[in-house]
Amino acid sequence: MKSFMKSGAKELEVPPAMDAEEAARKAYEHDQGLTKHTFKPGEHPIVRIEHLNKTFTDTPVLRDVNLDVWNGEIVVVLGPSGSGKSTMLRCINMLETPTAGHILIEDQEITGSKKTDVNKLRRDLGMVFQGFNLFPHMTALENVMVGQVKVLKKPKEEARVEALKQLKAVGLADRADYKPPQLSGGQQQRVAIARAVAMHPKVILFDEPTSALDPELVRDVLNVMRDLALHSGMTMIVVTHEMDFARDVADRVVFMEGGVVVEQGLPSEVFDHPKAQRTKEFLGHIR
Ligand SMILES: Nc1ncnc2c1ncn2[C@@H]1O[C@H](COP(=O)(O)OP(=O)(O)O)[C@@H](O)[C@H]1O
Ligand SMILES: [Mg+2]
Repeated sequence: MKSFMKSGAKELEVPPAMDAEEAARKAYEHDQGLTKHTFKPGEHPIVRIEHLNKTFTDTPVLRDVNLDVWNGEIVVVLGPSGSGKSTMLRCINMLETPTAGHILIEDQEITGSKKTDVNKLRRDLGMVFQGFNLFPHMTALENVMVGQVKVLKKPKEEARVEALKQLKAVGLADRADYKPPQLSGGQQQRVAIARAVAMHPKVILFDEPTSALDPELVRDVLNVMRDLALHSGMTMIVVTHEMDFARDVADRVVFMEGGVVVEQGLPSEVFDHPKAQRTKEFLGHIR
C-alpha cells in the first residue's frame, strides 16, 4: 500500500508510517553506534520522522528525511544555510505542513491528520528561536508565566514559583522584573529558554538560538543549554553552528544539506572522520 500526497502539479509517493514496534526495532538497529544515547530494552523513539518531504511551490526543500530521536537524546543538526534545518523543525511542531511523509511523537502521527491537537502538540514541543520572540511589554517573569497560565491552566502562584525557579536556573533571578528591551540579547534568549523549560515539554527544539547574539553573549546561552542537556534529561534537537557545543554536548550530530540528511553519527566520528565529501567540505569550511 502506498499513500499519496499532492504537491502542486507533482505527486510524491511515500509508504505509510511504519508499525510502531517495527519502527522502534529498525530505529534501534539503525541508531546504535550513531549516538551516545543509552537504549532501554524495547524503547521506542520519542520523535520519528519518516520520508519527510517539503516542497515550496516547485522547490523541494526537504527530500526524504528520515530521523529518529530518543528520549533524553541531544541531537545537534548542522548544515549550511538553506539546507532545510529550520523547515524540518517547523514541520515537527506543525508550523509547516509537510508535503509528504510522517512525523510521529511517541508513536502518534501528527502529520496528515485533522485530528492532531495542535495545542497539545505545542505543549509537548518547546521551541527556542533565533529571535527570542518574547512579549516586549511583559516582564521576564510574566513571559515565563504566561504559557503556564494560559496554556497549562496553572494557578498564577504556581506558575510564578516555577517561573522564578527557571529564571534562577538560567542565571536571571535578579532580572525577573525587567522587560525584554531592558535586557541584553543573551539575557532575552535565556528568558526564552526558561519559558520553554517551564512548560516541561517532551522535546525542546532550538533553531540557531545563538546566531543573533553578539559573540560575548553567546557563551552564557550555550552554558545554559549545556546545563540543560547534561542535567535535565530533556530531549533536545538543536540546530546550531556552534561546533564546540556540538562536539561536547551532542549525543548525535546530524549533517544536512540540500534537504537531505547527508551523514549522522557520534560527534567524534562526524567531526574527526566525516565520511561524506560534503560533510568534509562543510566542516573544513566553517572552522
Ligand atoms: N515559506 C517559504 N517559502 C518558500 N521557500 C522557503 C520558505 N521557507 C524556507 N524556504 C526555502 O527553503 C530552503 C530551506 O530553508 P530553511 O529550512 O530555512 O534552511 P536552513 O534553516 O537550513 O537555513 C531555503 O532555500 C529557503 O529559501
Ligand atoms: Mg534556519
